[in-house]
Amino acid sequence: MSKITVIGSISTDFVVTADKRPEVGETITGKEFNTTFGGKGANQAVASARLGGDVYMAGTVGTDIFATELLANLSTNNIHVDYVEPVTHVPSGSAHITIVDGDNSIVYIPGANNAIGTKRIEGLSELIKTSTIVVVQNELPQEVVDQIIEMCYEFSVKVIYNPAPARKVNQSVLEKATYLTPNESEFKLLFPELTISEGLANYPNQLIITMGSKGVYYHDGTSEKQISSYTVTPVDTTGAGDTFNGAFAVALTAGLDLESSIRFGNLAASLSIKKFGAQGGMPSLIEMKESEHYEKTWHIE
Ligand code: RIB
Repeated sequence: MSKITVIGSISTDFVVTADKRPEVGETITGKEFNTTFGGKGANQAVASARLGGDVYMAGTVGTDIFATELLANLSTNNIHVDYVEPVTHVPSGSAHITIVDGDNSIVYIPGANNAIGTKRIEGLSELIKTSTIVVVQNELPQEVVDQIIEMCYEFSVKVIYNPAPARKVNQSVLEKATYLTPNESEFKLLFPELTISEGLANYPNQLIITMGSKGVYYHDGTSEKQISSYTVTPVDTTGAGDTFNGAFAVALTAGLDLESSIRFGNLAASLSIKKFGAQGGMPSLIEMKESEHYEKTWHIE
C-alpha cells in the first residue's frame, strides 16, 4: 500500500468570527469563539487520511492538555502517530484566527512545532526512504524543511512542498521538490523577478500555483494549463490549501496523472470550505464520490 508521510505542524486553532477585523487600538464585539484542530501539517495529514491514504505524521507537540487532544484527533482520523514526539520545554503550537465573511487572517505561534531539529529529521530517514510520497510545509524551521527536501531528493522519494506560510527559500531547495504548491502571494515572494506565466514555464509539471476561486495553474511542458475550481459559497476557507495538498498526495499515490490529481485536489478543497474549521469540512472519500463532480475515471479506493 502507498505510504504518505506528512512532516509538519500540529496545532490548536483558536478561532473568532466577527463582522469586521478590528483597527489598531480598536475593540470590537465578535460573534463566536471556537477551538478546532489545525496546523498545516496535521490538516494535510487529515485530508489525506479521510480520502483513504495510509498516513504517517511526524512532528512535535508539547506536554500540555492540548497535546493530548491533538494526538487523539490524529489517531481518530486513522493517522499513524508513532513519529510525533512530545517535548517538555514549550507549549503545543497554536494559531489565532479571525474569520470575517468566510475569509481568515491568522497569527501562528509555532511553540513545539519549532522544537523539531535536524537531528530528529536524520532519525526519520527510514520513514522517509520507505514513503511513496512526503508532504512538507513552512510551519517548521526552514533548515528542517530544507533537510527533508534534500533527503527526499537523495532517496528519490517524491515530495510535495507547500511553501506556506510564505517566506524566502533557497533556489536549490525549490528545484529539488518534486511538486511545489504555493498560492499566488507565496509564489510572488519565492519568485519576485518572475511573472506567473514565466514561473510556470520555468518549472513545468513541478510548479502548481493554487489561486482559490480562479483555479490552479501549471505548465505541462507544452503550454500553460488552468484547472478550474468548483463554485461553492464558502463558510470558512481555512485549510482549503491544506485539503488540496492532502488530496493531491492521495491522487498521485493512487497513480492519477498530474491534471487529474489537481482536479481531485480542487474538488476536495471546494467541499472543505462548505463547513467551519480547517478540518471540519475535509471530505471523506464517500463524500467525494457523492459529489456530482466526482469523475468515475479517478478509481481511488
Ligand atoms: O492552513 C490553515 C492552518 O494554518 C490553520 O489550521 C492554522 O493552524 C494555520 O497555521
